[in-house]
Amino acid sequence: ALERTLSIIKPDAVAKNVIGEIYTRFEKAGLKIVAARYKQLSRAEAEGFYAVHRERPFFKALVDFMISGPVMIQALEGEDAIAKNRQLMGATDPKKADAGTIRADFADSIDANAVHGSDAAETAAVEIAYFFAATEVVSR
Ligand code: CMP
Repeated sequence: ALERTLSIIKPDAVAKNVIGEIYTRFEKAGLKIVAARYKQLSRAEAEGFYAVHRERPFFKALVDFMISGPVMIQALEGEDAIAKNRQLMGATDPKKADAGTIRADFADSIDANAVHGSDAAETAAVEIAYFFAATEVVSR
């Protein structure tokens, strides 16, 4: 099905100056960038975005990392965009990520793991709406 998914290029990958290389992977896979924003997340924004992880032991480290520098946030659109983006990203832990995936190539650790991608249609809708007004997501 035609889907949208929320993608974040995390502070580690932004610091490595690989926004363009990651965008090229999205585009080569047939995913279109239909909204984008470059910004520094506040602590409150990062905590709200990852609210489902609030009780996890890694929550504080995750939020600290996500506000350690600017991020590039985008909505991607395409056939099976959610699963396609997750294939491009590879496993959450870069040590387990398949060769040739974004995390295998650019991530250093499970915290500094280069990218975030929505895991399901319901979370994708919530996550896109967290960062973008409906009028800011423009299909083409
Ligand atoms: P992300 O897809 O952004 O969603 C939550 C993030 O928490 C995840 O990527 C990882 O960067 C981070 N994280 C740190 N430790 C863990 C863990 N043990 N399990 C899952 N995610 C973790």
